[in-house]
Amino acid sequence: MALAPLARADQAARVPPQKARLAVPAEAHAAESHAVAHKGAVASAYPLASEAGQEMLKRGGNAFDAAVAVSAALAVVEPTSSGLGGGGFYLLHRESDALETMLDAREKAPAAATRDMYLDSAGNPIARASVDGPLASGIPGEPAAFDYLAQHFGKLPLKVSLQPAIRLAREGFPLYARLQGAIRYKRERLLRSPDTARVFLTPSGDVPELGALIKQPDLARTLEAMAEEGAARGFYAGRVAQDLVKGVRAGGGIWTPEDLASYRVIERKPLVGNYHGARIVSASPPSSGGVALLDALNILSGFDLKRVDGVTRKHLVIEAMQRAYRDRAVYLGDPDFVTMPLPQLINKDYAAGQRTSIRTDKAMPSDMLPGIETAPVGQDTTHFSVLDAQGNRVAGTISINLFFGTGDMVPGTGVLLNNTMDDFSIKPGTPNVFGLVGNAENAIAGNKRPLSSMTPTFVETPQGLMVIGTPGGSYIISMVLIGTLDYLNGMSAPEIVKDPRFHHQYLPDVVEYEKGAFSDEETTRLMAMGHKLEQGSRLWGNMEVITWDFASGKVAAASDPRGEGEGLVY
Ligand code: DON
Repeated sequence: MALAPLARADQAARVPPQKARLAVPAEAHAAESHAVAHKGAVASAYPLASEAGQEMLKRGGNAFDAAVAVSAALAVVEPTSSGLGGGGFYLLHRESDALETMLDAREKAPAAATRDMYLDSAGNPIARASVDGPLASGIPGEPAAFDYLAQHFGKLPLKVSLQPAIRLAREGFPLYARLQGAIRYKRERLLRSPDTARVFLTPSGDVPELGALIKQPDLARTLEAMAEEGAARGFYAGRVAQDLVKGVRAGGGIWTPEDLASYRVIERKPLVGNYHGARIVSASPPSSGGVALLDALNILSGFDLKRVDGVTRKHLVIEAMQRAYRDRAVYLGDPDFVTMPLPQLINKDYAAGQRTSIRTDKAMPSDMLPGIETAPVGQDTTHFSVLDAQGNRVAGTISINLFFGTGDMVPGTGVLLNNTMDDFSIKPGTPNVFGLVGNAENAIAGNKRPLSSMTPTFVETPQGLMVIGTPGGSYIISMVLIGTLDYLNGMSAPEIVKDPRFHHQYLPDVVEYEKGAFSDEETTRLMAMGHKLEQGSRLWGNMEVITWDFASGKVAAASDPRGEGEGLVY
């Protein structure tokens, strides 16, 4: 295939700006009925959290109650990755009326946040200002999602669905290897916050032994306040809110009581696309996940991936990732603050334009695509998938951004603060910890939500469906893309979560890959095409997948072997 003239690629990639607010009430799509009875399933990053979800399903709750129980339990047993001090996206499907919606429980910037708050007087980024300390923390959204799920979708009150988390926080859970490793890695940082150190380190400041009981009495009290009064009164107002504001401000943060009191979950319409007959439902902005996933799939839909050889297939997937991540950097932000050309970005004709710049035999350097100027990564986040026996489902990806967020636990609350403000573009072209760059669309403003890569997704075909998602910062979208292609290629849930991963995010212009993603021959051929390959130094992601085969009713749940999670079918 010949290289398309650059001007043409340029034109194809530059879409006219247009108002495209998708923040509209959710809509139902045509209800389908699946006659064969099936089981419910939960897959999450830690067995105690999967069991909390299963407990709700057994007690007569639905997938939405299970989502609350799993999220709250993860806040306790996987404190590296998500929690009451963070936020995320809950993609929901309600079977009775086929309602599909997304709860945007993303953190928002405090009202006093300003565009240049992490720059010095010369306009240069202040090192680590958007990741260290309470000034890096957005207003949490996860507790509000609990209220919303319980009030609008669940069958059980928070008093019941928060019970497993309260028990785990109060009675403690045994320290496991993955968490111990994260504590070791972040020990210095954790020592700086007395409350964090008290919970996760020994009295002498050492890393506890495997199996040591991790108890979080303050977190149990905060969860109890929410169980009794709901999050609006038990977290965003009252004693907990006062403690949060006091603690954050004492550490140099800018939260106010009004920031907490005014936090609301926003129900948004998920993005829907199709790929060779499969229906893809995924996160809409302020997550970039769905846009980039659909854009990449649209680009790929013009190639016959089943007929090309393995290397060409991987090459094309890389080229699609590169172009989709470019659009992320150039166009995306919080839909309540910026207008984005979303309909074009997920339009198949637009993708056809992007395809014209792809050669099957040669990598396209990122600087030949019009865009933005750029560096490397840090880590944590978590995903869970739930399906109940009625067919309701939740794909939830929730986060406090990096391991233990900022590492600060607000005194008296048990709440670890997020450093999600780093997901904003603190200066056009300055990469965040994931090496992602952005434009004015993702600049900081008071009450604005930072752009995310979290990609909770449903993939449906006439034969079955998959609920999928993973943590992994900027790598999330690539992982969900590969998982989607794997599912459509007939892989099982355990095979999908295990498959080695590769990633291209436009800038930096390299293909990062996990050991095993490319054979020696593929490596040689991809390099000959011009790809700059870099083997990642560690494993990525912690994918949680549920699959459901409509004809047999068979449900499978699988947790990524890179982590210590568990998929339960009951
Ligand atoms: O929203 C985002 O895109 C990031 N805050 C996610 C961070 C993450 O996945 C870290 N992970 N391993």
